[in-house]
Amino acid sequence: MFSKNLNFVRRYFVMSLQEAKKIAARQAVDEHVQSGNLVGIGSGSTVIFAVERLAERVKKEDLKVQCVPTSFQARELVIKHQLPLTDLNINPLLDVCIDGADEVDSNLNLIKGGGGCLLQEKIVASCSKKLIIIADYTKNSSKLGDQYKKGIPIEVSPMVYVPIQKKIERLYGGKVELRMAVMKAGPVITDNGNFILDWKEFNQDHDWKKINTDLLLTPGIVETGLFIGMATKAYFGLKDGSIKKQE
Ligand code: 5RP
Repeated sequence: MFSKNLNFVRRYFVMSLQEAKKIAARQAVDEHVQSGNLVGIGSGSTVIFAVERLAERVKKEDLKVQCVPTSFQARELVIKHQLPLTDLNINPLLDVCIDGADEVDSNLNLIKGGGGCLLQEKIVASCSKKLIIIADYTKNSSKLGDQYKKGIPIEVSPMVYVPIQKKIERLYGGKVELRMAVMKAGPVITDNGNFILDWKEFNQDHDWKKINTDLLLTPGIVETGLFIGMATKAYFGLKDGSIKKQE
């Protein structure tokens, strides 16, 4: 009986979370993508709904778009939906990038990289006129670290992950863990052949802009999952089916 109830609660929660992602994604695509646009396609489960909506609009409205994916997953998604692909060397400035996030604070600063795609995500976002974030209500927080407990992802060169782990712990505190693949079969390898460190239990009152700049000056750190001052607007799907917009 208890496990039946638990399953019901779990199913309801998961479904409503999926629904929250979906409504945020669809609304963002409808409000920010126009015909002729070059669109950056983020990574993760919420972006799936955005690409579905894009494909729907291409069919229904004869919308013309070209897409730049931010990961292997995003590229596969774009191909599956038969949307035209392009890249930043052909089209260096995109109209909009639509992406998910692991956490969004009250100043629109983000933690990204839960799926390990932070480097390409940051590159594509930096080449876009607007970065529009789509997320469910669990991603909305007042301070970075309030909601997302899996840590700030940091992409590093495999040859120096231990010195970087130790350096971050020594300078800033917290715990820095090497991200492992399922069943701990080995480290997660990014699309770019690097490792991911997850910086956990950090002090939430850090000056994130400064920390991000300092980390990026460290040889071997390729990119961080701190997206500071990059997002234009965020759409959060809420439990009651409404959407909260933050800009
Ligand atoms: C991947 C990301 C994702 O955008 C982030 O993890 C959110 O994913 P989801 O939409 O599945 O919650 O940064 O590197």
